[in-house]
Order: sequence, then structure tokens, then C-alpha cells
Amino acid sequence: MDSSRHRDHVALVTGAGSGIGRATALRLAGEGAQVVGCDVNAEGLDGTLAAIRKAGHDASVLTADITDQAEVDRIVDDTLARHGRIDVLANVAGIMDWFLPAHEVDDDTWRHVMSVNVDGPMMLCRKVLPSMMERHAGAIVNIASVGGLGGGAAGVAYTVSKHAVVGLTRSIAWVYQTEGIRCNAICPGGVETNIGTTAVPRSEWGLGRLAKIHALGERMAQPDEIASLLS
Ligand SMILES: NC(=O)c1ccc[n+]([C@@H]2O[C@H](COP(=O)([O-])OP(=O)(O)OC[C@H]3O[C@@H](n4cnc5c(N)ncnc54)[C@H](O)[C@@H]3O)[C@@H](O)[C@H]2O)c1
Repeated sequence: MDSSRHRDHVALVTGAGSGIGRATALRLAGEGAQVVGCDVNAEGLDGTLAAIRKAGHDASVLTADITDQAEVDRIVDDTLARHGRIDVLANVAGIMDWFLPAHEVDDDTWRHVMSVNVDGPMMLCRKVLPSMMERHAGAIVNIASVGGLGGGAAGVAYTVSKHAVVGLTRSIAWVYQTEGIRCNAICPGGVETNIGTTAVPRSEWGLGRLAKIHALGERMAQPDEIASLLS
């Protein structure tokens, strides 16, 4: 790890209370960034902050639900007020969909998955972009999934949501290339995190259809392997 790679950079990381988001916050802090971690799970954020401090660095954390525009506004405004700019936006927060296929998905699952996985990252990009445009600099990294590239990774809601994240990334990367702003997506396969809480299968049939593809995965990745791609 290069401890000066992100010196003086300000990084806003969503989903920082667990898994890939926690690993990203830890890595960016270790690489010199001023990290602002946010998550809906305050306890998780406390754990992340403790891990960052144990490693000899510091960060700040904000509890927020990224599905709520007012909370998105609050975390971005707060970060800009405290640090003056945002160099890196890491859209990591996300949830799974219990492997529900199209004929079994319920409205609540569909709306909640879309709202966390698509609306949240879109609202954060929309809010952060003007300040990046002013400075003609910035990087946005969205965590999509192999489920954003094909149909065999998850249920219908997650698959559609991650395809949308790929589309969000492509649109921003193309449209803002003249503004000094980069936008990339990472599409991991299985990673050992806490996402399993929303991945407990609720559809035997749905999971059965995916089992052969899941069995092809050689191993689960560790969160820091994904964080190292992001930083
Ligand atoms: N774990 C995998 O196998 C895997 C594979 C591909 C992609 N991903 C993606 O990686 C990202 C991170 O997931 P993870 O595996 O680290 O899972 P995780 O459950 O360990 O972490 C996700 C974090 O997002 C937070 N979060 C959920 N809803 C939120 C909301 N409304 N507002 C703010 N925070 C919220 C959770 O509290 C949690 O701390 C997700 O976008 C996920 O889709 C994960």
C-alpha cells in the first residue's frame, strides 16, 4: 500500500460500515485520503472507525440512508463544508434480492433494491458532480457486480439494478469526460461480506436456476481485493 497515493484527497465512501465499503475506507485512509464513511448502520460505522484508528489513521463517519434525498444532500454538504471538496465518490452501499426470479418478485423487494442500488448512487452522483465540475477534477467509482453484466448471478431486481449501475457509470463517464471527471464501475463476483443477510434464498426455484453458474466460482474474493481495485 502506498501511504501517499491519496494524500490530500477527500473520499466519500458509502456502505462504509461493512464488507467492501469498510475495506475501501480502510485502504483509502491508509493511502492518505481524508475519508468520510457513510452507512445506514451506525454500529458498523463505529467498527470501521475503530479499525481505521487501530491502523494509525483517522476518518469521519456519517450515519445516513442513501435512499433519502435529504440525507444524501446532508452527507455531501457536510463533507464539502468540512473538507472543501470531494475528490473521490465511492458508491459501494448495496443490497441483494433473495434470489427472487421475475415471476416471484414482490413490489417491496423490487422497489427497495432499486432504491438502494440505483436511486442512491444516482442521487449521490447528481449531488457531487457540480462541485467536481467546478474544480474540473474528480473520480466516481460505482460497485456494480457480475450481475450487472449477465443474467445468472442473482434475482431479477438485483440483476436489473446492477445493469442500471453499469448504465449510470457509462453515461457519466461519457458525458463528463470533457470536465476532468472519471467514472468507472467494478463488477465483482462473489465476495466474503455481510451481504448474505439479503441473499438468504426466498425462492428455491430461483436459486435452483442459478446453482450451476454459482458452482463455477473457484473461490470467494476478500473485500480488500475489491478495495484495491477501487483505490
Ligand atoms: N459480496 C458480494 O459477493 C458482492 C458481489 C458483487 C457486488 N457486490 C456489491 O458490493 C457492494 C458492497 O456490498 P458488500 O458485499 O460489501 O455487502 P455488505 O452487506 O457487507 O455491505 C453493504 C453495506 O451497505 C449498507 N447499506 C445498505 N443499505 C444502505 C442504505 N440505504 N444507505 C446506506 N448504506 C446502506 C449496509 O448497511 C452495509 O454496511 C454492494 O453494492 C454489492 O451489491 C457484492
